[in-house]
Amino acid sequence: PPYLHSFEDRQNFNTTIDDVWRMLVADLDQFGVCVVDAFLGPEKGSAVLEEVKTMYESGMFKDGQLVSGKGKNDVKTIRGDQITWIDGKDSAATNIGYLISKVDAVVMRANKLSNGKLATYTINDRTKAMVACYPGNGTHYVKHVDNPNKDGRCITAIYYLNKDWDVKKNGGLLRIFPEDSINRQKVADIEPLFDRILFFWSDRRNPHEVQPAYATRYAITLWYFDRAERSEACRRHKENDFPTTRVEGTSPRKRKNAGQ
Ligand code: OGA
Ligand code: OGA
Ligand code: MN
Repeated sequence: PPYLHSFEDRQNFNTTIDDVWRMLVADLDQFGVCVVDAFLGPEKGSAVLEEVKTMYESGMFKDGQLVSGKGKNDVKTIRGDQITWIDGKDSAATNIGYLISKVDAVVMRANKLSNGKLATYTINDRTKAMVACYPGNGTHYVKHVDNPNKDGRCITAIYYLNKDWDVKKNGGLLRIFPEDSINRQKVADIEPLFDRILFFWSDRRNPHEVQPAYATRYAITLWYFDRAERSEACRRHKENDFPTTRVEGTSPRKRKNAGQ
C-alpha cells in the first residue's frame, strides 16, 4: 500500500527523524494513515521488546477496562488486551523512554513544519505510553474510534514489537476502515510487525479493530493532544459531572489516563 514505507537497508539510513516526519505529513494528508518500518533498527527495537517482556512477566499488566456499566465478562468480548502505562522518565524503562523521545521528535517536527492538515492542530502534550499485550487465544479489540467525542487526542501512534509474526497463523491484524471520501470502501490492513510504527488520526476518520490474535502480541501506543481541543475537553469535564457519554467502545481508561 502507498502509505507503507519499508527500509531494507537500514545501515545507509541515518536521517530517520527528518524522513519520517516528512512521510507522516504527506501520508496524513493523503491517507490519514502512515506506516514506517525499521523505525528504531533491530538493536534498539529488541531492547524495547526485552523491556516489555520483563515488565509483562513481572505481572504489572491489568485487563484493559471499560467502565460503561457492563459486567466484567463483557469486557473481554470488547477488548482482550492487558495494559500498563509508562512514563518516558521511568528508570525501569529507559528503552521505552528512548522510543517515546523518537516518536515525540517526529510528531513535534511534523506538527511545526507541516503546511498540510497537521498544521491545523497545535500539539503540545500527549498521554503516557500504553503498553499492551494481547495474550493470544483469540483475544481482540472490536471496531472502535479512539476519540469519537473530542477528548483532545488527534494522533494515535502505535509501535509494534512482534518478531516473525505470521498473520495467516497468528492473526492479530489491525484493520482500519477510513471514513474519508477518497479512501472509503477500502480498508487498510496493518500487520503488527517488529519495529514498525503506525500513525493515524484518532478521531472518527479512522474506525479500526484488532482481529483475534493467536500468539502473544505486543504494542506501545501514544496519543498526541491538540491543545485547543484538549483544553476545551478539560473545561467540559470541570463543568459537568463526569463521566457522561460512552460511545462505540471508546475505552475510558484512555480518558482516565489522558491527563497524566
Ligand atoms: C487501541 C487499539 C490497536 C493495535 O488500543 O485502541 O486500537 O493494533 N490498538 O494494537
Ligand atoms: C466528552 C466528554 C464526558 C465523559 O464527550 O468529550 O467530555 O467523560 N464527556 O464522557
Ligand atoms: Mn484503538
